Amino acid sequence: MKLAQFRRLNPLDYSGTEAVNTICSNLSFSGRHVRKIVITSCNSGDGKSYMSVQIAYNLAQRGKRVLLIDADLRKSNLVSRYGITTDGEMTGLVHYLAGYNGLEDVIYRTNMENFHLLPVGRDIANPIPLLDAPAFSDLLNFLAEKYDMVLLDAPPVGLVIDAAEIARCCDGVLLVVKHSHTHRKEMQAAKQQLEQTGCPILGCVLNDVSFDSISAKKYYNKSYYSHYGDYYRKNNKD
Ligand SMILES: Nc1ncnc2c1ncn2[C@@H]1O[C@H](COP(=O)(O)OP(=O)(O)OP(=O)(O)O)[C@@H](O)[C@H]1O
Ligand SMILES: [Mg+2]
Repeated sequence: MKLAQFRRLNPLDYSGTEAVNTICSNLSFSGRHVRKIVITSCNSGDGKSYMSVQIAYNLAQRGKRVLLIDADLRKSNLVSRYGITTDGEMTGLVHYLAGYNGLEDVIYRTNMENFHLLPVGRDIANPIPLLDAPAFSDLLNFLAEKYDMVLLDAPPVGLVIDAAEIARCCDGVLLVVKHSHTHRKEMQAAKQQLEQTGCPILGCVLNDVSFDSISAKKYYNKSYYSHYGDYYRKNNKD
């Protein structure tokens, strides 16, 4: 199997790691049959690719065999963003679905153990005929037998129909919501569109939350520790 190297993958800080741990634990409890998961959001830049990579990496570190599929066939930036390099031409999903290459040419092991990658290969203007063809759902079913988890990094559900087409072939959707950016109406429209595919929405990932904007700081610095202080004072009067 050929190697794809991620040259830019910054480690998460403590709170980031905890948040991704929680997402991955919840995913692991979604059921054995939930193996093909599409990650989408309402808009571009919400953090779908970022979350896809972090979730794949976290699951791989837990010993799960994970395949990340770059399913943004129109405008993928996963390869450039993470500085992914391969020896020779990078072939991917588009080459496979168009019949130019076999699976052995398009799935790469990476420099992270248990973490395999199926890149796009090349962007195309109209991916619907490829995503609509039985070859795509057959491929996902085949890969779900080979891997513990198959994650698909999709385009935004609000802008193009691709994510819904992909969801049709998956066991669950993870919706990334960008804090203070995603509007309620957009969310409702996305939910409706995804529900029509019959693919269950497993949950939402609230992304880009500043630590100060939620009550975590209050919880850790004030409430929790001040209660602890009260308890300590009451029980240690002398
Ligand atoms: N939780 C996060 N922490 C730090 N950086 C983040 C986080 N989420 C997203 N980013 C950064 O925000 C930018 C946009 O994220 P990303 O590319 O994942 O969005 P996207 O939803 O995949 O966009 P597109 O629809 O264009 O593919 C990237 O530079 C990414 O590294
Ligand atoms: Mg993306």
